[in-house]
Amino acid sequence: MRYRPARMPGSIALIYAHPYPNRSRAGRALLSAVSDLEGVKVRSLYERYPDFSIDVEAEQRVLTQATLVVWQHPVFWYGPPPLLSLWFEKVLARGWAYGKGGDALRSKSCLWVPTTGGDLDAYREGGMHGHPFEKFVPPIEQTARFCGMNWLDPVILHGSHRATDETLRERGLAYRQQLQRFARVAESAAEVRA
Ligand SMILES: Cc1cc2nc3c(=O)[nH]c(=O)nc-3n(C[C@H](O)[C@H](O)[C@H](O)COP(=O)(O)O)c2cc1C
Repeated sequence: MRYRPARMPGSIALIYAHPYPNRSRAGRALLSAVSDLEGVKVRSLYERYPDFSIDVEAEQRVLTQATLVVWQHPVFWYGPPPLLSLWFEKVLARGWAYGKGGDALRSKSCLWVPTTGGDLDAYREGGMHGHPFEKFVPPIEQTARFCGMNWLDPVILHGSHRATDETLRERGLAYRQQLQRFARVAESAAEVRA
């Protein structure tokens, strides 16, 4: 899918954790809708760290420069894939992201972008996944909040297996517009402060 290149101020660290990026359809469609935006730095964790050996300082450097941190991944067993969990453990370190002196992420915004195989109807009491999707949100939301970040309304793509190309295109465009809106607001706020 092709999108017109766009100028965008501000810096967005997009942490992408797909264990099989070459086989991805939904995640790839969303990613390709935003990755050319100016200011977006994509960190594809499984491509960058196939041996799970995360360069913590490099990751922290990218986060330090960002005003918005995006966590995009397919939902695997009701949560993030293992390399993103490891990234949380290593990168969001005590004394850096939380605890005494740990204010590196304070006041940055955080946007969660999960894709699920289950459609919305599967996420309900008595449905295939037994609970509304909101029940699975708190661990990741609280991870961001614990580090002092502003939690934005997540961009969730349910039923990704059955999503048509057209749906993926529309959802990609909406995601792109959301990041552009965020950058505009961040730029206005920066101008007011200057
Ligand atoms: C190991 C594994 C675990 C999964 N666990 C879930 C799950 O807990 N809930 C769900 O809705 N989908 C689950 N799925 C489906 C993925 O979320 C889905 O395939 C993915 O979001 C599709 O995006 P993609 O086209 O970018 O790969 C799982 C898939 C795999 C391979």
